[in-house]
Amino acid sequence: MSTRILITGGCGFIGSNLVKYLSTLSIYDEILVLDNEVTGTTAALAGIPHQFIRGDVRNQRDVDEAVKQADAVIHLAADTRVINSINNPVYNFEVNVQGTVNLLEAMRRYEVKHLINASTGGAIIGEADPPVHELMPVNPASAYGASKAAAEAYCSAYSQSYGLSITSLRFSNVYGPLSFHKGSVIAAFIKNILKGQVCDVYGDGYQTRDFIFVGDLCQGIIRALEKRENGVFQLGSGQPTSINEVISLLRDVSGCHEDLEIANHPFRAGEVRHNYTDITKAKQYLGFRPEVSLRDGIQITWDYFVNKEDVLKPSLSQRALQNAD
Ligand SMILES: NC(=O)c1ccc[n+]([C@@H]2O[C@H](COP(=O)([O-])OP(=O)(O)OC[C@H]3O[C@@H](n4cnc5c(N)ncnc54)[C@H](O)[C@@H]3O)[C@@H](O)[C@H]2O)c1
Repeated sequence: MSTRILITGGCGFIGSNLVKYLSTLSIYDEILVLDNEVTGTTAALAGIPHQFIRGDVRNQRDVDEAVKQADAVIHLAADTRVINSINNPVYNFEVNVQGTVNLLEAMRRYEVKHLINASTGGAIIGEADPPVHELMPVNPASAYGASKAAAEAYCSAYSQSYGLSITSLRFSNVYGPLSFHKGSVIAAFIKNILKGQVCDVYGDGYQTRDFIFVGDLCQGIIRALEKRENGVFQLGSGQPTSINEVISLLRDVSGCHEDLEIANHPFRAGEVRHNYTDITKAKQYLGFRPEVSLRDGIQITWDYFVNKEDVLKPSLSQRALQNAD
């Protein structure tokens, strides 16, 4: 009997990398993608074997249609924009919380037992002394963080009430190829450098983040899929990196040394100052092993943007350029 995995949000940055990665493995016979293309597009999946289902996670019928064909689900579809969530918390709730409950309901109804739920580390925990780990109390500073905490809580409830096996993975800051529509810091800086524009830094640049290369993240998701551990796991590099260090690496890979112009602005509301993750639990229970150094990952990402720049230009809408997570 053939087996099928459903990836919600499979046209997005992480989703398209994951569909590509999964298609090279022989775990499932078919990959189904449910996406409404609000930020990602099917163009990112060109040439990769999959079945596309156009639909919205806010619509129970769309979700049912996709889930009833699947044996397991990886849930990536979300409104990922932190600043947008502060401006429009209701939309963020509908996509991230109602959308997740719709998915869990469909899984309960069609007896699909296994889910990987994409969550986030920094935005859920808020301002706290790093490293961030799974036992810290949640204290979100944005609607996005609150929505991800609520989605995790529903996953826990459905797991315990209805016997679903659910792993919530708290991703740190993910970067890599296929992130051209993202406003996250590495993608945004590369686009600015390629366009000869100033790179905007909010704060003094000494704030730290935990950057994980998307290939390492996909490896972690697949390990979680195979292990089927219930509960919450941090997936990150386990290393703090300042924005100034990222800029320095980008100066090296781009060759733009004194030409790379930086503009410093005040810190933005809802953003944490220091963040990196403790990945001991994921290493121990999932066998997670991030391998790509930040220098190598930034080089791969830079090369991707440089090679794709002409092809991708038309899809770099103003709205997409303003996305941030
Ligand atoms: N990128 C990161 O650094 C990061 C960090 C932490 C957590 N995450 C989580 O990982 C997941 C994937 O993030 P990403 O960076 O690939 O974002 P993305 O915006 O590139 O991908 C999200 C995908 O979901 C789709 N989508 C959005 N709303 C939808 C809806 N209502 N119905 C159906 N599809 C919808 C979009 O079209 C897009 O293809 C998200 O759940 C996000 O919260 C990402």
